[in-house]
Amino acid sequence: DKGHFKHFMLKEIFEQPEVMQRVLEGRISNGHLLEQAWGVNAAAVFDQTNRVQIVACGTSYHAGMIARYWIESLVGIPCNVEVASEFRYRDVVLSDDTLLITLSQSGETADTLAALREVKQRVLASLAICNVPGSSLVRESDLALMTNAGPEIGVASTKAFTSQLVALLMTTLILGRRKGLSTETEQQLVGALQALPELIESLLELNDPVAKMAEAFAEKHHALFLGRGSLYPVAMEGALKLKEISYIHAEAYPAGELKHGPLALVDKDMPVIAVAPNNDMLDKLKSNLQEVRARGGELFVFTGCGQSIRDEEGVSTLTLPAVHPLLEPLAYTLPLQLLSYHVAVLKGTDVDQPRNLAKSVTVE
Ligand code: M6R
Repeated sequence: DKGHFKHFMLKEIFEQPEVMQRVLEGRISNGHLLEQAWGVNAAAVFDQTNRVQIVACGTSYHAGMIARYWIESLVGIPCNVEVASEFRYRDVVLSDDTLLITLSQSGETADTLAALREVKQRVLASLAICNVPGSSLVRESDLALMTNAGPEIGVASTKAFTSQLVALLMTTLILGRRKGLSTETEQQLVGALQALPELIESLLELNDPVAKMAEAFAEKHHALFLGRGSLYPVAMEGALKLKEISYIHAEAYPAGELKHGPLALVDKDMPVIAVAPNNDMLDKLKSNLQEVRARGGELFVFTGCGQSIRDEEGVSTLTLPAVHPLLEPLAYTLPLQLLSYHVAVLKGTDVDQPRNLAKSVTVE
């Protein structure tokens, strides 16, 4: 039931405040994460984990890419991330202190399941972060953390993605405990996670200005998404969403790669969307954006308060509320979900059931 929403996708975008609450429910006590939420043997597995390998497809893969930034910076152990369709057919080198994390909304994605089956004997343990209880992935993994996002009907994944991010950040904190992450830092981050419902509410207030911004894209055939650091996978997710439901060709690049090729594409017909929180990468990103402006590319910048990117000829900005730096990838995803939604609506495509795609890819 779509309720008063025109599409399931929009309903699912607007459900995200409650979803954030549900993924945390029962997993926190006194500002601490309860590790039994991951499974009865979870503590023993986490004690022995010295590496992480993440495997997933599509949007779930983008969540994994974001988690790599968190795991390597907060836990300080190596983390690899790979798409399942490549990982399963390659001679991967794994070690018996590796925790394999599979990410999947459905838990039935053929390549992700096959990847798990292929390597589960060669790793320390497998953890499924999944939205569907009792799915194949959950049944066949040693540990599972359910994302509790509720049924996702729109083919374009939205709430499943943000709930995966929360589950991954919680997993990062649990692993970090073993590697010297302080109790204060854990408590502080748990507090930031608990404040997510209000944060998401305030981000959803951007719906109208984002809908207005979408008008600039309806006639375009291409778009470039740029981000740096953990916002690069957010740019990838924004590009996937746009191409999936509006059929506009979209690519994402880490902004530093512009000069190495894609800048050649930029002209007045190539809108460039940048996710640019006010962080230590902003200055670098700004000079990338100047390169785009100098070639006549129209810029659409999602940015944080207190920085100096301003609206001017060819530059439209939208300012997001202040957010904990680790939660930036989550926060900046919201306006990009809304942008792709509104562009698709303007183009009149089938938002919930885009052509050629299935919600669950159970065949190779
Ligand atoms: O169910 P899964 O998370 O394993 O699905 C993986 C992808 O097929 C999925 O995320 C796909 O990319 C979405 N349609 C993206 O919106």
